[in-house]
Amino acid sequence: MRASIVLAALTSLVAAAPQIQISTNEIGLIFTYTNGSQSEQKWVANSISQEPLNSGGIVDNVFVRPPENTAVPGHYLGARCAFLDFQSRGLGVGHVNGPGIIILESKDVIEYVQCNTD
Ligand SMILES: *[C@@H]1O[C@H](CO)[C@@H](O)[C@H](O)[C@H]1NC(C)=O
Repeated sequence: MRASIVLAALTSLVAAAPQIQISTNEIGLIFTYTNGSQSEQKWVANSISQEPLNSGGIVDNVFVRPPENTAVPGHYLGARCAFLDFQSRGLGVGHVNGPGIIILESKDVIEYVQCNTD
């Protein structure tokens, strides 16, 4: 099955799940490249749509920092992120229960990101 079809299926599942408030917040991302160095923190919209975001190099893993859960001070929301190449092919997908790392299945340059909170 094509990765884009899998992503579309996953995205519709996520869209059907109940959302915990917050639609305008952004999600912080830090790329760790295959050479071990890291990018600065970048921001991507909290969205079920793919957003253009060039990683600037071949990525091994991504540190994901979801917004804080305003209902529970000091706690973060969970988030699901998918990382895609320039042809919108999936490089990796994962979920974090707060700030955490998602490791790419295919190490490559990221061009699109889709991240949304639980
Ligand atoms: C590691 O790779 C990144 C992305 O390609 C690059 O920006 C950075 O300069 C590299 N760092 C080293 C120490 O080679």
